[in-house]
Amino acid sequence: MSDSSLMNGENGLKKVTSLLPTNGGNGSYSYFKNSYYQRISAIFEHKKISEEIAEKFDVEDLSLSKAIRIADLGCATGPNTIMNMLNIVEAIKQKYEANKCPAIPSTRPEFQLFFNDLVTNDFNTLFKSLPEDRDYFVAGVPGSFLDRIFPESSLHFVYTSHSLHWLFKLPAELEEENSPAWNKGRVHYTNAPDDVADAYKSQFCEEVRKFLDARAKELVGGGMLVIIMSGTPVDLPLSSTANGKMFEFMASTLMEMVREGLIKESQVDSFNLPLYQSASPEEIVDIVERNGCFSIERLELSKPSSWLKGAAVDVPAWMMHARAAMEGNFIKHFGSNEVVDEVFKRLTKKHLDHSELLPQWCNQDVQLFIVLKRKKIISM
Ligand SMILES: C[S@@+](CC[C@H](N)C(=O)[O-])C[C@H]1O[C@@H](n2cnc3c(N)ncnc32)[C@H](O)[C@@H]1O
Repeated sequence: MSDSSLMNGENGLKKVTSLLPTNGGNGSYSYFKNSYYQRISAIFEHKKISEEIAEKFDVEDLSLSKAIRIADLGCATGPNTIMNMLNIVEAIKQKYEANKCPAIPSTRPEFQLFFNDLVTNDFNTLFKSLPEDRDYFVAGVPGSFLDRIFPESSLHFVYTSHSLHWLFKLPAELEEENSPAWNKGRVHYTNAPDDVADAYKSQFCEEVRKFLDARAKELVGGGMLVIIMSGTPVDLPLSSTANGKMFEFMASTLMEMVREGLIKESQVDSFNLPLYQSASPEEIVDIVERNGCFSIERLELSKPSSWLKGAAVDVPAWMMHARAAMEGNFIKHFGSNEVVDEVFKRLTKKHLDHSELLPQWCNQDVQLFIVLKRKKIISM
């Protein structure tokens, strides 16, 4: 696996990101094979996206440019991104069909789909899995979506799912042993002192601010931005959610392994996962309003229990999903595949031992669905 903390190569270049890519390829621990839960939670929002497009996507204006340009930011290796993009294409086609002028059928737009992720993402696996027979154009766009990655006013629709809650950088305070935000014995801010949670929160707000600044430049006036990401009601402690419990169990597993001499305590103290999972609707409204370039069209929280539709969480499969998304962080920090095997084996057992509590942990509002529209750009 390549070292994504050195985004520009080897030889001591400046560390710019805490993020490591999801597992590439299509082997047993790959994201390609282990992203079913992200898939069903995105499918849960498909109908709402189609409704928003039918009602608010300004096709008449936008089709003047002939090609509708859509980007998925944080696409990973597939297959979810393709399905999610095609849902958007289909909804825009339907909107177009419903609105088109029968006298000029040749103005039917073409579609260009952009797949973005970090430069270290395994784009090959994604592009190899695209259907050969397709009626849209594709392009890969490597780079951090916190920066500008497209020309000004060039996109009509931007989509991102399960990506914006990943922090590009860990807050610097977490890495300072004398700081009040030194996160001893934990791997995340779940159950941590306020200083730790506050450090995560301000890093997240700063990153979302940058994300919106870049999208405000890249989207045309009337263009839409759909975000699916983790979130919680403002007063819900993360420790009462399934993800919060997983972080708690990760910490207790690692501390057990410290006691057994398998890893060092200092390694656990300095290990933190770059994920912010408790953005509240109020927090999002505040950041969007400060940005000022977008109107909020829809903002909702949903529960895993609703998109699981009564099916029980398959614990081993869920742990494989967590591994496919996070393994890189563990291997880089603990330096051995054996440690990671042991962590996830124990983590799976801990969850199975508590499986009767899983339905309760999943019955919380933890997925944010956000639809924004770029305000019209008035040229002087
Ligand atoms: C859990 S995957 C989600 C993939 C896909 N959207 C899905 O729903 O299955 C999160 C992806 O976001 C990407 N990501 C996170 N932060 C990013 C950033 N700042 N710029 C580009 N990609 C980023 C990660 O590299 C990873 O591939």
